[in-house]
Amino acid sequence: MSLAVRNLTAVYSAPGNDSLPPFPALGPITFTVETGEFVCVVGPSGCGKSTLIRILAGLQKPAQGQALLDGMPIDEPSRRIGVMFQDTNLMPWRTVLDNVALPLELAGFSKAVRYEAVNKLLPALGLDEFARAYPGELSGGMAQRAALGRVLVQHPHVLLLDEPFGALDALTREQVSLDLLRLWAEKEQTVLMVTHSIDEAVLLADRILVLSRRPGQLIADIRVPLSRPRSIEDTYSEIFNQTARQVREMIERA
Ligand SMILES: Nc1ncnc2c1ncn2[C@@H]1O[C@H](COP(=O)(O)OP(=O)(O)O)[C@@H](O)[C@H]1O
Ligand SMILES: [Mg+2]
Repeated sequence: MSLAVRNLTAVYSAPGNDSLPPFPALGPITFTVETGEFVCVVGPSGCGKSTLIRILAGLQKPAQGQALLDGMPIDEPSRRIGVMFQDTNLMPWRTVLDNVALPLELAGFSKAVRYEAVNKLLPALGLDEFARAYPGELSGGMAQRAALGRVLVQHPHVLLLDEPFGALDALTREQVSLDLLRLWAEKEQTVLMVTHSIDEAVLLADRILVLSRRPGQLIADIRVPLSRPRSIEDTYSEIFNQTARQVREMIERA
């Protein structure tokens, strides 16, 4: 399914102070993410990236303009759209199995159906031996994989990822993002991912959107000319470095 925003703006109002005008947080911004595309968003801190993710997830209302899923307005959270933030929000008293299965439990599926679905997913996330472990027993990378599993278990058509690997060390981050790439390649999922790593954006994305300072507007839409499937080897190529430099120059201009 495609995602689109049209002349979208978002504002914040200072709480408890009606005399201050609302404060522009994002936009106006217009772009489309086609079905099956992997698009990364980069831009200065506070430019509205998380706001964009929340609006597309149906968790926040735009001030003006539209957020569209296959051309239909997004005005509430939907099972077709999976969202993941930097904070894993795993429940410490639940096993990995029960954490990943949570969305299915909330949707009313039986234990047998839930566990079958989760057990199918865990090997691809490298977590099959940790199904019975608790979040406190996991490394940072494993916890992020479990959080990703909890999003994927509902087979969303769209994945919205807000700096999902931002708290991980560089090596773990590379491994988890390549796992994500493999999982994405098996589906027809549409991905919009916010990252502060230019290298991560170039390695993963078909296109990179660069936002200006707050309120974030689109200042560049850069196509990544690397073929797929991609691997760590790509990061040593001339094309990779040229693209990363192009993105960096646009961010500096922001
Ligand atoms: N809960 C909030 N209350 C007031 N202002 C907020 C809130 N969240 C974000 N903002 C403002 O909106 C702007 C965009 O925030 P955000 O979308 O979190 O940016 P980013 O994710 O790019 O760092 C910021 O400049 C911030 O000051
Ligand atoms: Mg943010």
